[in-house]
Amino acid sequence: MTADPRVSRPRKHEPLSLELIPENLLREPIEYIFADHYRLRQIIATMDRFLTEGVFALPLATGAGPDITVIQAYLHDDLPKHIADEEEDLFPHLEQYCQNDGDAKQILATLRQEHADNFTLLPPVMAGLDNLLAGAAVLERELFETSAARFVETQRRHVIWENNIILPLARRFIKADDMVIMGRSMAARRNIVFPG
Ligand SMILES: [Fe+2]
Ligand SMILES: [Fe+2]
Repeated sequence: MTADPRVSRPRKHEPLSLELIPENLLREPIEYIFADHYRLRQIIATMDRFLTEGVFALPLATGAGPDITVIQAYLHDDLPKHIADEEEDLFPHLEQYCQNDGDAKQILATLRQEHADNFTLLPPVMAGLDNLLAGAAVLERELFETSAARFVETQRRHVIWENNIILPLARRFIKADDMVIMGRSMAARRNIVFPG
């Protein structure tokens, strides 16, 4: 059998493993979101590497199944909650303090648009990951790869903007009482009792 020329010999990597975020961090909801960005960046980096190495081009021929399971679970379960944390808790609280800051409002509008774009990009990505996890090749591979590449590219920039602009503004302006409201809402989203 001839090897697929796009599949380079991958270097050995540690298995992808996401740290659980301690529930206590819900008392500092901005830091909880920051911690989740670290996990999202691990997902993005692994997807980027798999695209480059051609791992998605064959039915799990490279032993990447466990990593793809982690990616699938994050995109399916964790990312929608993270986006809701921002759309329903972080951004509205921050907007109260940025009424007169046109730049901040513009950035928040862009980030909201990118969240909406994710929900267009992700279905073909998830469908392709499902194919791979079922032991098959990705059915709509071109759509899968362009969607996954676009997701990686936009999310990388998106997280940088959030970490470097939005979270520092939030740390500066959101008051302690609002932090508790945010944390309670984020805990409820995860069926976690707000840590007392
Ligand atoms: Fe976001
Ligand atoms: Fe985020």
